[in-house]
Amino acid sequence: MHAPVRKSSLVAVVGAVAYALALVTPALAGNAGFAPVTPDSPNAHSITDVYWFITGFVLFVLVGVEGVLVAFVWRYRRRKRARNADGPQIHGSTRLESMWTLIPVAIVVAVATFVFVKLPGIKNVPSANAAAGRLEVTVTGQQFSWQFTYSNGAVAIDRLRVPVDEPVHLTVTAPDWDVIHSWWIPALGGKIDAIPGRLNHTWFTARKLGTFGGRCAELCGVQHAAMLMTVEVMSRAQFEQWEAQRLQQQESRTAKDTLGQEEWTGSCGKCHGLSGQGLVGPSIAASGIVQNETQLTALLRNGLRRGSKAPMPPVGRGWSQAQLDALAAYLKERFGS
Ligand code: CUA
Repeated sequence: MHAPVRKSSLVAVVGAVAYALALVTPALAGNAGFAPVTPDSPNAHSITDVYWFITGFVLFVLVGVEGVLVAFVWRYRRRKRARNADGPQIHGSTRLESMWTLIPVAIVVAVATFVFVKLPGIKNVPSANAAAGRLEVTVTGQQFSWQFTYSNGAVAIDRLRVPVDEPVHLTVTAPDWDVIHSWWIPALGGKIDAIPGRLNHTWFTARKLGTFGGRCAELCGVQHAAMLMTVEVMSRAQFEQWEAQRLQQQESRTAKDTLGQEEWTGSCGKCHGLSGQGLVGPSIAASGIVQNETQLTALLRNGLRRGSKAPMPPVGRGWSQAQLDALAAYLKERFGS
């Protein structure tokens, strides 16, 4: 009568163990598993340290609790007792009760202490009078691109260029008419929300040349998944050259191949397709608006509320005239005649 019950629970246990074992290998497999990406900024280093410190206790608790559970299930199993007979009754153990109170308290104290020691190195922006200087960039998240505004006025979309080994202070925000986004370059530090009407602060110091990928980490609308960003780390000289050139192009209205192209790719292409063929937004390749600067400016500044199905956000409402010109010039060349 009882045999089928026991058989099916045995099958369930064996199944669960097999499933857990199958998960172990991928779980341990570096960045594709539960390990964080390799940090390349001091604040990201501190976050990774905290991660591994807590993971140590997590594994200790998991193995300890599950081990004792399995041992007790075995040690105090029914054996030949009748199914309805009580097992041995055990009351009180001061030593055991003290241990299962003090060990968790010690773990909580250790974790809290470690986190509070590491926190300033994660949160506090290094001061500007440090030897290396400090780069100031305003990061604006909007549906569905990231705009970077440098203190000299240079603008970039979705690709943040910075010098290597220098603290970069980011003021992260979103326009009043937009929604909340979240800035996140895993190798260069933790997440920080981009909230309409609020200025949040974060920083990083990239320790090596190259590019680092990131993504918007707050569900922000239909193209949230396309809201990717790249940090390009270059030498100080290369960076200065890029920044001066971008600014000069903006001011002389010749930024169509650089800023204009970035705006098309970042602000238009994610919804309308990189060839304007239509994606979640309508096809605009053949639309007269892309070549009429007045209509284009009005559309970018006001957006479009076509019913409630697919409204177009006012992606260019906060743009400078130079930014609008750059896009108009790019579109004219790309889709002209
Ligand atoms: Cu912006 Cu998700």
